[in-house]
Amino acid sequence: MSDALLETPVSGRERVTAVKIPVSRYTSPEFFAREMTDVWPKTWQLACTVDHVANPGDWHEYRVGHLSVLIVRGDDGVLRAFQNVCLHRGSELCSGSGTELAEIRCPFHRWTWGLDGRLREVPSRREFGVLNDDYPLIGVQVDTWGPMVFVNLDPEAEPLADFLDPVPAEAAWAHLEEFRGQALISVRADCNWKTLIEGFSETYHVQGIHREMLGMADDVNGPQVIWPRHGRLVQSYGLPSPRQGRPGRDEDVFASFVEVMGARIGVEDRAAHSGSATPVVGKELIYFQTGHGKPELWAVKPGGHGVLDDSLVVWKVKKNVPTRSSTVLVDDLLYMVDDGGIASCIDAKTGADVWRKRIGGNYSAAPLFADGRIYFFSEEGKATAIAPGRELKVVGEGTLEAGFMASPAVSDHALILRTKTHLYRVELPKGK
Ligand code: FES
Ligand SMILES: [Fe+2]
Repeated sequence: MSDALLETPVSGRERVTAVKIPVSRYTSPEFFAREMTDVWPKTWQLACTVDHVANPGDWHEYRVGHLSVLIVRGDDGVLRAFQNVCLHRGSELCSGSGTELAEIRCPFHRWTWGLDGRLREVPSRREFGVLNDDYPLIGVQVDTWGPMVFVNLDPEAEPLADFLDPVPAEAAWAHLEEFRGQALISVRADCNWKTLIEGFSETYHVQGIHREMLGMADDVNGPQVIWPRHGRLVQSYGLPSPRQGRPGRDEDVFASFVEVMGARIGVEDRAAHSGSATPVVGKELIYFQTGHGKPELWAVKPGGHGVLDDSLVVWKVKKNVPTRSSTVLVDDLLYMVDDGGIASCIDAKTGADVWRKRIGGNYSAAPLFADGRIYFFSEEGKATAIAPGRELKVVGEGTLEAGFMASPAVSDHALILRTKTHLYRVELPKGK
């Protein structure tokens, strides 16, 4: 491939030839073994941030496959990295990360090195005839770009700056040197590493799993540049996706941005809404629960488009709203039971209280309306039947041994109930 072709920016709208990658690169143990011998011991890898090893005695273990590197800030302030392995019999030296490390002591037989990697102590040294200069820890190359610490296990490897070229120059506008590392989060993903990396190098999946971003991110025009070893993808925030097929108003784009990124810019995290309760569609209004810690029940008018606007919200109820179980609408009344067992009835048109009563138990399952009765099923196994209406009338109670998490269903004249252990078919009383 010529350099000219490699440096051609490719916008999402230009047609490029798709490349088929053999499945074996993701699944073959032989290919994985080759990566472990030919790639990871020889390439620069981002290990942590400078903030994680800022002070003398700060240390961080970086792992890739079976390879492990110990990065440590010495008493002299110098950042060093070593293979995280004991020179005596190969035990692992440190695991995880920490501060105030005074020496590197192997847990197996307590051979000990200074933070500069020089051997310092060998129990029963005379038996071994070992001098402190004989067995320094095996050094690993370490260098930084802005706040990022990179390591390379290959002592012959090219300098980090050569490896990264032209990325630092192309990213100079971002002033990465001003970034600080607040947290380092490791998550084990159940996939080949390339699958994950690829997900972070395209915006094609935004219309799939990040649909909430379509109001605030242009996922189609994401210019990519591919250099010989590295690449760049630009994703524009603050523009609506062309997939929406209409220009976005600034207010809509901003509202969508807050919805997606609110927590990161200090705005209340509206994305943290409950997703488990099913909305209920009435004759004129739609009812849904929202919010995690303090759930609310909202009644909204159907219609409109874009981001839900307050003018469409007819009423909100904040008292005894369940986070998990849904509401049930019968005629013009809504029935619900909160997580702690307080059942309530609400006027569906106005949101006004009709009645409220503790029926006991904890609730995840939604109430069910069947054959003229409303049934509530608790996690402890209690079933309560009431007659719909503006007066609370309990018409039956019973228990099934294991409790209910799943919402019940109705079929002909039978309730289909799933407890934590069994599936039941319960015939409803005849003549109802
Ligand atoms: S293996 Fe480390 S001291 Fe023996
Ligand atoms: Fe994503």
